[in-house]
Amino acid sequence: MLNLAGKNALVTGIANNRSIAWGIAQQLHSSGANIGITYLPDDRGKMEKKVAELVEPLSPSLFIPCNVENDEQIQSTFNTIAEKWGKLDILIHCLAFANKEDLTGNFSQTSRPGFNKALEVSTYSLIQLAGAAKPLMTEGGSIVTLTYLGGVKVVPNYNVMGIAKAGLEMSVRYLASELGPSNIRVNAISAGPIRTLASSAVGGILDMIHHVEQVAPLRRTVTQLEVGNAAAFLSSDLASGITGQVLYVDAGYEIMGM
Ligand SMILES: NC(=O)c1ccc[n+]([C@@H]2O[C@H](COP(=O)([O-])OP(=O)(O)OC[C@H]3O[C@@H](n4cnc5c(N)ncnc54)[C@H](O)[C@@H]3O)[C@@H](O)[C@H]2O)c1
Repeated sequence: MLNLAGKNALVTGIANNRSIAWGIAQQLHSSGANIGITYLPDDRGKMEKKVAELVEPLSPSLFIPCNVENDEQIQSTFNTIAEKWGKLDILIHCLAFANKEDLTGNFSQTSRPGFNKALEVSTYSLIQLAGAAKPLMTEGGSIVTLTYLGGVKVVPNYNVMGIAKAGLEMSVRYLASELGPSNIRVNAISAGPIRTLASSAVGGILDMIHHVEQVAPLRRTVTQLEVGNAAAFLSSDLASGITGQVLYVDAGYEIMGM
């Protein structure tokens, strides 16, 4: 039933085969979407090579460097989409960053540059990408971002990223309100803890995963592909009445009080 044939989907945030964005890209592809990938470029081209090899089986029709701190790269990404695809249907925002020292210890010691960096990359980027996507979503569209419980409740060590995710979830609502009249839906998936490059920077991530495995109703955490399934659903016409929401894909952990 889930059919994304004829839809153009841009997926941001693949760094390696553990990335949640990789799980999402695979599920969008297997549902029939035409895939475009952006990656975070580095001076030596290592990320480009690694991500290109990984995504090859999905035959992406676009493969574009895009550092969300760089306005020119964002502009050029969407210019390329306009030129090569003409329209965009699905945007997956699956990226975040905070300095490692701001993801452990005392939250009150968060530095100003660390705060600004985390919020710029992890929160403002959704607003900017959505603004750039809007004129290309001429037939309506779906924007999905990734959040975490630490943006709603205190999770030890998540610290500045909790503030970034709180801002991200509120951005989802403001964007959904603005873009709804253009039939563009904006939703977030709040994923349970998964071992990835980004999560390994959060102090005590393995303890968090073990805790979830003991307490969550399903007695486990989730996989990248399960998050990918939810993203494919939210991006499909099956979710045509859903916008501005945060969908928990966390094996039920969020409902527990103890
Ligand atoms: N892993 C988890 O436990 C978990 C749980 C809930 C939500 N999330 C969220 O999922 C998303 C993906 O993270 P992940 O866990 O898959 O880790 P990941 O490290 O695989 O992905 C993070 C991505 O962000 C990209 N990135 C960082 N700075 C960037 C920049 N300036 N410009 C462009 N891209 C940049 C990295 O290149 C990487 O691809 C993040 O928003 C994260 O907060 C993760």
